[in-house]
Amino acid sequence: MLLSGIIVGLFLGFASGEDGSAGWLRYAPLPHASSYHSIPSSIIALNNTKSSPVYTAQQELHQGIQGIFGKTLSNGTSTGKDGSIIVGTAHAYQKSYGDFDEAGDIEEDGYFLSTEGRQVLILGQNERGALYGAFDYLSRLAQGKLDTVSYVSNPHAPIRWTNEWDNLDGSIERGYAGPSIFFENGFVTGNTTRVAEYARLLASIRINGIIVNNVNANATLLSARNIDGLGRLADAMRPYGVQLGISLNFASPQTFGGLNTFDPLDPTVDAWWANITNQIYARIPDMAGYLVKANSEGQPGPLTYNRSLAEGANMFARAAKPHGGIIMFRAFVYDNHINETNWKADRANAAVEFFRDLDGKFDDNVVVQIKYGPIDFQVREPASPLFSTLRNTSTAIELQVTQEYLGQQTHLVYLAPLWKEILEFDLQADNRSSKVKDIVSGERFRRPLGGSAGVVNVGTNLSWLGSHLAMSNLYAYGLLAWDPALDAEEILQDWIRLTFGHDPKVLETITDMSMKSWPAYENYTGNLGIQTLTDILYTHFGPNPATLDNNGWGQWTRADKFSIGMDRTVKNGTGNAGQYPPAVANVYENIETTPDDLLLWFHHVNYTHRLKSGKTVIQHFYDSHYEGAATAQTLVKQWESLQNKIDGERYEHVLFRQTFQAGHALVWRDSINQFYHNLSEIEDQAKRVGNHPYRIEAEKMTLSGYKTYSVNPFHAASGTTAIVTASNSTVGTATTNVTFESGTYDVAVNYFDLIGGKSQYELQLNNRTIGSWTGDLEDKLGHAPSIYLDGHSATRITFRNITVVKGDLLKISGRPDGIEPAPVDYVSFLPPGIVD
Ligand code: GCU
Repeated sequence: MLLSGIIVGLFLGFASGEDGSAGWLRYAPLPHASSYHSIPSSIIALNNTKSSPVYTAQQELHQGIQGIFGKTLSNGTSTGKDGSIIVGTAHAYQKSYGDFDEAGDIEEDGYFLSTEGRQVLILGQNERGALYGAFDYLSRLAQGKLDTVSYVSNPHAPIRWTNEWDNLDGSIERGYAGPSIFFENGFVTGNTTRVAEYARLLASIRINGIIVNNVNANATLLSARNIDGLGRLADAMRPYGVQLGISLNFASPQTFGGLNTFDPLDPTVDAWWANITNQIYARIPDMAGYLVKANSEGQPGPLTYNRSLAEGANMFARAAKPHGGIIMFRAFVYDNHINETNWKADRANAAVEFFRDLDGKFDDNVVVQIKYGPIDFQVREPASPLFSTLRNTSTAIELQVTQEYLGQQTHLVYLAPLWKEILEFDLQADNRSSKVKDIVSGERFRRPLGGSAGVVNVGTNLSWLGSHLAMSNLYAYGLLAWDPALDAEEILQDWIRLTFGHDPKVLETITDMSMKSWPAYENYTGNLGIQTLTDILYTHFGPNPATLDNNGWGQWTRADKFSIGMDRTVKNGTGNAGQYPPAVANVYENIETTPDDLLLWFHHVNYTHRLKSGKTVIQHFYDSHYEGAATAQTLVKQWESLQNKIDGERYEHVLFRQTFQAGHALVWRDSINQFYHNLSEIEDQAKRVGNHPYRIEAEKMTLSGYKTYSVNPFHAASGTTAIVTASNSTVGTATTNVTFESGTYDVAVNYFDLIGGKSQYELQLNNRTIGSWTGDLEDKLGHAPSIYLDGHSATRITFRNITVVKGDLLKISGRPDGIEPAPVDYVSFLPPGIVD
């Protein structure tokens, strides 16, 4: 059995350990590789200094061609250049071999790749560009794209960074793949192996900077020991052309430096920052710059001293300027204590209100970093109006690769289509084409700087993000930062070929799964622009729509018995629509022209309001939650159709997650539908909501050692209650006789898997064990855990094809552990084709 697995693996071209650590850089053998003769036999690198990206490119070419073709290349010399791959800067090439036509077309970080003629030329404008060209060439080879090419590729924008929200203690805010690769126990890590590997992955998608620590920054990063540690990180990243940057805490001069102020206009503060910046640059001369979150969510900032945000940003700009450093200053500034009884109050207005009057007041090396939408990485938001407000300020777009509000890497959500909608959105400033992508590149408003920041939050998990399929998001982030005109599906398919090989069925299946994943997630979480209806006060994972309202965070839905949505019109609401240039403002101001998918973002309407589809808002809610959850079920079947076409390790890993998603999508569906059904008291025309004929509620069974428990929020449990063991040491049983007709069923058990215990369960029919399992998802899924019975911990396990005889005794036994009282919600007996 093992042997045949190995043979299948070789045939399919799987590298030995398919644990995901190689990402898309697997260099797996190309089928029929021996029939390709066009690969040169040597590599000439035009710089052999070990820390040089050109040297890295040479190493990578050796490794890649060895893996893909099984061919060992020699290191060539400049005299016999025919039949060689020549890699280096354009300048170095010109010095050795004379001019070439395309030299003048290559821009900073760009490259020329040519496979025409007897040599392969990979020539960068700089060394980093040469490395990008080598990775591009290898990507083509690995995908079997062996046609002759000759082209220049230039970046759309100079700043293509990731942000990592890593804390010095090794934890990661909104990270779902284990602890930090950068920090542990308050210091920079001693082992930079994975840092270098991460830099390699990022270089291959043309990312040129990493901010290594959390925007909620800890000033002790600036200790002498940590500055030296940062130097080691930068040393590990340098051969890949990836520059290091750090997040700063605005109050550092006081909390860390011992001054009695952090006023940005105080000369001692200015001098303090200049001094620490000089120390950092002495260790890391090529440091990228700083990222600053100020006066946001409790972080200190210049407003404490009545100084403007621009005055705060410019203080860092002055310190970094002599070293060529850039300041990324975040526009995520808002008051989190606003009052919902004020109809005109609106967090979505905050960024424009804070920054509008500062346009043109930032130093040239400051870039204002703007989240894609006005609130916070929701499943759907309009583009932030700030992109079109700042005309004399450089800007960058902030995207989230880590799926904070989008399933935390346990739900498949391919994000490139979401990002593309924003990047391609035309804000029509001054009635001229003003796509977000052209604003953040600097092109539209003729700014010197601009680009993208992607919050990634990789961890020590070998798969980097905790989910193999989520890696398509990191890959797409880099490529879109380089060229936002690329097609989301084409990027995805390149990634699939590189990650899973060349089988057309694999390509087609993962493409289909991924392309429908964002619409499905939107359908079963929050649609019509109402935001992801998750618990915004706790883990941002499972459903809890009530948490969006009645607090100062301003992610309001304003849902009551009759109506829902934020009125952001100028004529009657918060005026947010008016923050957009007139052509766009008119579209959003009018309910008739507002697209349905943003209806509730801009308008407050009755549940009975009819959409363009003709459906009422409430019926659309019900239907789309059913549709989205149904799609989530099909993802499992699609993935299962790839068994034996994917290596075992990654197949099982993904199957586990897809199965979890399918169960959790049902939790979302029922929870959201139940919440709005309860609030509006409007029936689902299809009579599905609140009506579950295939379920046996645990609280209706005969309980021994178990007791009923009212779940909070009520809609996270079927029938609002579940059962928990009577104490944390009692084994509980719940029994009943099955009243369903005899036949074959999938039997599903919905239960709650909390952190803080690993309960054990057994499901029996007439004393025959159908299955037993442990509540240990906290070890298997990286999402933020919950200590409660709620929409985050609610989950499902399914036993397929069970023969059931009417009258059988159904018994669930639960052994509590720690604080987890073996909670059970219900059991479903699902005839073929039914999901409930
Ligand atoms: C979100 C996120 C926080 C993060 C913040 C930010 O609110 O939940 O964890 O710190 O965004 O982007 O600064």
